[in-house]
Amino acid sequence: MTIPRVFLTTTLTVALAMAMVATIVPRAEATRAFFVFGDSLVDSGNNNYLATSARADSPPYGIDYPTHRPTGRFSNGYNFPDMISQSMGLPLTVPYLSPELNGQRLLNGANFASAGIGILNDTGVQFANILRMFNQIQLFEQYQQRVRAIVGADRTRQLVNGALVLITLGGNDFVNNYFLTPFSPRRRQFSLPNYCRYLVQEYRKILMRLYDLGGRRILVTGTGPLGCAPAELAMTASRNGECAPEPQRASQIFNPELFQMLQSLNREIGSDVFITANAFAMNNDLINSPQRYGFVTSRIACCGQGLYNGLGLCTVVSNLCPNRDAYVFWDAFHPTERANRVLVQQLMTGTTEYMYPMNLSTIMALDAKL
Ligand SMILES: *[C@@H]1O[C@H](CO)[C@@H](O)[C@H](O)[C@H]1NC(C)=O
Ligand SMILES: *[C@@H]1O[C@H](CO)[C@@H](O)[C@H](O)[C@H]1NC(C)=O
Repeated sequence: MTIPRVFLTTTLTVALAMAMVATIVPRAEATRAFFVFGDSLVDSGNNNYLATSARADSPPYGIDYPTHRPTGRFSNGYNFPDMISQSMGLPLTVPYLSPELNGQRLLNGANFASAGIGILNDTGVQFANILRMFNQIQLFEQYQQRVRAIVGADRTRQLVNGALVLITLGGNDFVNNYFLTPFSPRRRQFSLPNYCRYLVQEYRKILMRLYDLGGRRILVTGTGPLGCAPAELAMTASRNGECAPEPQRASQIFNPELFQMLQSLNREIGSDVFITANAFAMNNDLINSPQRYGFVTSRIACCGQGLYNGLGLCTVVSNLCPNRDAYVFWDAFHPTERANRVLVQQLMTGTTEYMYPMNLSTIMALDAKL
């Protein structure tokens, strides 16, 4: 097993711990590739290489990462794809645009995600150069060509068919498109229910494309309760921390329709290719009962300024909480590493209310037999 370069800069203790973890990992899982698509919730640093304002490559981002330095992840430390990798005994996914992703390391998969993007091309236009979904898919095709050149067509197909694919998409189509201004073009074009229907239709095309390109285990997360992000609480000047009604309603319409669409795709294909992760329910648990999970607040962001620390960006001059583990939200939109850890616990072992039709530990056990 090759150790990603990022670990070479960590302390010897961490390296030793990693080596010990690596030795107890079953072989089948250690060779599984992992591909990540989507937005800032799963971007591990692609935007560091792009001329865009949607970036997390300066402090205090990364303050709790092993290097204590920013990586491009929108988190104080790891993001949730990192923890999926760790739970499955895989190396962390490397951003596809990173020059470090080359040679044998390509065989572990890649991260194509880009902060600011959505299902629609017009989502996140204010961020200029980001990898929209059609770009991410083009790069996935290019990736497969590169891998074919190393291991040949048959092994490349096996690698992609056997991989775990994660896609997290949709939140920005609301907060950075429909709800961006009171008179946004999409708001004038669509009622909220019709907009949700349109998004789900477009999302379906993206997912079919991933299937056509060889994805056979595709984990799809819906959106969290969008109205409860500190940014939305601040924007609506929420008095007692109640969630903003409009974005909240959007996630309540969008997520069930997404779920129905994924089930109809599985029926069409005749196999459980698409796995729904109910991010809405998972995040709601944390937001409604932070104390139950050992958090102090789910309303105020750790890093930011203004009401609920929900205004503007998280930068060196922002308020910064001393104990990140006490907060559900790291910045105005993104969870802390510790909140991500709770979510990944649900992805791994959650019941069908959270993971449908099955959780990741079941998938690992099932696919290990193939
Ligand atoms: C997004 O843009 C690309 C490139 O211009 C285009 O091929 C694709 O069809 C567009 N997607 C949608 C949903 O309009
Ligand atoms: C989820 O994971 C646990 C094992 O951790 C298992 O007992 C349970 O049945 C799984 N649920 C589903 C629906 O796959």
